[in-house]
Amino acid sequence: MNSLLKEICGMLTEENTYASLGIKMEIENFILAQKTIDFEENQNSDLKEEIVSLIEKSDHNLAEVLIQAQKRLKWRKTTIPAALISDEISNLFYVCPIMGVDTVIPSREFRLGFLFQKPNSYYPLHSHNAEETYFIIGGELDWSDGNKKRKLVAGDTVNHSSLLPHSFETKSSGFLGLWHWSGDISAESYKILE
Ligand SMILES: [Fe+2]
Repeated sequence: MNSLLKEICGMLTEENTYASLGIKMEIENFILAQKTIDFEENQNSDLKEEIVSLIEKSDHNLAEVLIQAQKRLKWRKTTIPAALISDEISNLFYVCPIMGVDTVIPSREFRLGFLFQKPNSYYPLHSHNAEETYFIIGGELDWSDGNKKRKLVAGDTVNHSSLLPHSFETKSSGFLGLWHWSGDISAESYKILE
């Protein structure tokens, strides 16, 4: 798992922002304390196979280590409180939290994790107080802030300033992203806007 974390640290170094360097430092301290991510082996094998077949087609630096780590990653439903997101929307994606309050790498300042959004799905415009960065690792999506649109593919990055609306629409491939939150990382400000 440490090779996955080290590869993520390389991406955060390249991003070179206050938040990304802060997250990198917390991951490095975690590794230095000789800790390693110790997820339980869990089921969800159909989902894992779907994710592996998506990232197998990706030439992103993280794809290979992510395939190797897949067996030990724990995918789950969103950590957004159920009162703030309908089942209809939360069923469109799975997350794998890595850093945050009460997760594998504890942090009160930052959150970091993976998100897999299913093929042919629309995650409507939503916003939150936290500033956010997404790295696209595999697949593709049509991103929008309600005005501008962008097609994002593996290797692309998108930044969401605090409260900037964003929506993700997938076609036949779905997408896998690595995201991080900084600033106000509480989930209470999360809002679906349409
Ligand atoms: Fe977001």
